[in-house]
Amino acid sequence: MSLKGKVAIVTGGNTGIGKAIAVGLAKSGASIVIDYVADPAATDALEREIVSLGDQAIGVEADVSRIDDLQRLVEAAVAKFGRLDIMVNNAGVETRTSVLETTEAQYDKVLSINLKSAFFGVQLAAKQMIKQGGGGRIVNITSVHEDWPMPGNTAYCLAKGGMRMLTRTAGVELAPHGVLVVGVGPGAVATPINLTTMKDPALMAKLDAAIPLGRMAKPEEIASVVVFLAGDSASYLTATTIFADGGMMQNSVGL
Ligand code: BGC
Repeated sequence: MSLKGKVAIVTGGNTGIGKAIAVGLAKSGASIVIDYVADPAATDALEREIVSLGDQAIGVEADVSRIDDLQRLVEAAVAKFGRLDIMVNNAGVETRTSVLETTEAQYDKVLSINLKSAFFGVQLAAKQMIKQGGGGRIVNITSVHEDWPMPGNTAYCLAKGGMRMLTRTAGVELAPHGVLVVGVGPGAVATPINLTTMKDPALMAKLDAAIPLGRMAKPEEIASVVVFLAGDSASYLTATTIFADGGMMQNSVGL
């Protein structure tokens, strides 16, 4: 088990890509801390699933857009497991609204849950990693839309673009401490965030046709990239993004 003895926080860890990451890291031997706001039952179920894998997991009530709550997550990891080695800033929401439609409330929600939480997640995790010594791994789950417009989802693209520069800048700043910061940019993944598209066969056909590999990813296909980044094999990766998008960003109509 390559992550035996390591301790990981996964924000947004009780659903979608975050849940697959939490399980993937646990399968590799890490102990897991996840946050929840609205769904303690889902968190309990995931805790049980991880414990059944032989590893330990705790759920902490925390709204990751609040710095005090993020600090509580880090403190919970240290109190329960003694340290923090891996921070996965995964929590994310989207409104699918255009620049003309987006309200101030939508803008604030998307920017605070996606970007502010990642910024302070990096900051607070890095402080703990520096304090305990020995470096650490921070993985920011962004999107192809950190660098590729999604018309009709403007605030989301803005937040993911911010995470792209957070990854690069913090990666450079934290390198002397051995804290590596890498982004993972998924394309379309079969998770609750894409339910509207998944329920509509015509939209699904259009989406699949836009992806060179011809299909959405399974959450586990993103989680495996994060598990790799958390382990010894990824010791020379920092300040960059790995895109796991089935070739989506490179597609062209060829006309
Ligand atoms: C978005 C999805 C979108 C996918 C591919 C993701 O980051 O959350 O809504 O389908 O990117 O465009």
